[in-house]
Amino acid sequence: MNVQTIMVVGAGQMGSGIAQVAAQAGFRVYLNDVQQPFVERGLATIAKNLTRNVEKGKLSEDDKQAILSRITASTDLADAAEADFVIEAVTENMAVKSAIFSRLDEICPPHTILASNTSSLPITEIAAVTKRPEKVIGMHFMNPVPVMKLVEIIRGLQTADEVYQLTEDLSKQMGKVPVSVNDFPGFVSNRVLMPMLNEAIYCVYEGVATPEAIDEVMKLGMNHPMGPLQLADFIGLDTCLYIMEVLYEGFGDSKYRPCPLLRKYVKAGWLGKKSGRGFYVYN
Ligand code: CAA
Repeated sequence: MNVQTIMVVGAGQMGSGIAQVAAQAGFRVYLNDVQQPFVERGLATIAKNLTRNVEKGKLSEDDKQAILSRITASTDLADAAEADFVIEAVTENMAVKSAIFSRLDEICPPHTILASNTSSLPITEIAAVTKRPEKVIGMHFMNPVPVMKLVEIIRGLQTADEVYQLTEDLSKQMGKVPVSVNDFPGFVSNRVLMPMLNEAIYCVYEGVATPEAIDEVMKLGMNHPMGPLQLADFIGLDTCLYIMEVLYEGFGDSKYRPCPLLRKYVKAGWLGKKSGRGFYVYN
């Protein structure tokens, strides 16, 4: 199959980044969300990123306009009828994702592949709500999408080999490096990353060191680009908690228990950078 049109469902931080790299790769893209202001915010983020690249001399103004012209705003999931490939990037909630996949399965033509950008939910379970489980796959991009090279590609139990191959090729066309992973809670990225972030939060909770000190240790001592608490704030503390819950429940192993301080911050609405406060305060 020759993919020409991609729909990205969810115009948040991840969805807008995915739409940007898809349009940059020359695909026609629908950027879909439930309300027009959400789509407009996503488009504004893309325009801002591209303008920054023009200012840096990495992109011409003509190319920027051509990329933007390839993206169509959508608030109607029925537009997916024109898509060869759909990438869902909505909130990490199985009920919400299941409802979207079930509708997409009805709307899309039989050849359309349905991918999820889920960071930890089982692809096999998402696929099970459709009548095309062999055409459902995980395609996990990293934040910020335009910068990070990795795409974890997750095969569900029934994902067809040719669907895997096509998704791998598509990732490369988008300038990414695909890595194959099997369908287990948290896949590889979040199975390794989240317990580290959670442990850093335990260090704050137990008074081992301040957030600033913990971040300095990991940046200067381990060469991480961001300290774990800065990164947790950047990802969103609600997302971190959600992924820890998925690991804890999925493996039934106490080593994945979320730190009580993480729960407390999320209950307080301290969600990190997006809410203005997490381990740090943002203007
Ligand atoms: N969108 C687009 N581009 C961005 C960006 C954003 N949000 N943030 C930074 N950039 C670009 C900058 O424009 C700059 O581009 P050029 O090289 O062309 O000039 C480049 O990235 C570097 O940016 P900066 O110089 O401003 O800052 P930096 O060197 O500190 O890099 C960073 C910023 C890339 C975010 C870096 O701090 C980093 O790699 N942090 C770790 C990110 C990470 O771990 N991501 C994975 C999170 S986990 C996840 O996503 C999975 C999950 O399921 C939770």
